[in-house]
Amino acid sequence: MSSRPIRIAPSILSADFARLGEEIRAIDLGGAEVIHVDVMDGHFVPNISIGPLIVSAIRPVTAKHIDVHLMIAPADPYIPAFARAGADTITVHAEAGPHLHRSLQAIRAEGKRAGVAINPATPVSVLEHVIGDIDLILVMSVNPGFGGQNFIPESLDKIRRARALIGGRPIDLEVDGGVTTQNIRELALAGADLFVAGTSVFKGNDPSTYAGRIAALRNAASTVTA
Ligand code: DX5
Ligand code: ZN
Repeated sequence: MSSRPIRIAPSILSADFARLGEEIRAIDLGGAEVIHVDVMDGHFVPNISIGPLIVSAIRPVTAKHIDVHLMIAPADPYIPAFARAGADTITVHAEAGPHLHRSLQAIRAEGKRAGVAINPATPVSVLEHVIGDIDLILVMSVNPGFGGQNFIPESLDKIRRARALIGGRPIDLEVDGGVTTQNIRELALAGADLFVAGTSVFKGNDPSTYAGRIAALRNAASTVTA
């Protein structure tokens, strides 16, 4: 039994965009391993957020890993722009287009880590035949589009299934939506190792609270062994 490292990825969707640089520095100093960037197009999801310009703007502010979650369709035409902007991982949705394998190849061709996100209604089995082309699986535990939604309990079983599919491969298993100190332990036990947290970190937008909240999430999860 060895412990699986727990990594916390605050989602800047819940940051104060008027002070975005300060918000990023605060979560970086506060111990976040990964900066999660939610990109929405008002078409694949019913909300519009940010594009490559913001990724370029935050890239010089932090040396932490930038994890770009593309909730856009089509995704492929925009992969080079996010790669150039400084993304480390680029995640596309399995539901965003008919050619997932091509999207993953396009991400790796840019020299970036390739992620696939699956919506609550999408089975883990869609990943079976592209598992060798994936660096990260993102299990959506809310319907994508907004921060601050409640965790969908059925996601736990999907995390277990995704962990089983991953087997011994070096693939990150990320969970996104409604992650709190109350449920993070169960999620870690199910096999997740990368935890997106929007509201749980940024609620109130007081940078002096972020380090404590990130530590609280990590502590709540990290008693887990695998
Ligand atoms: C939802 C986004 C999430 C969201 C998480 O579409 O993908 O990353 O910001 O926010 P919380 O943690 O508040 O559910
Ligand atoms: Zn996200």
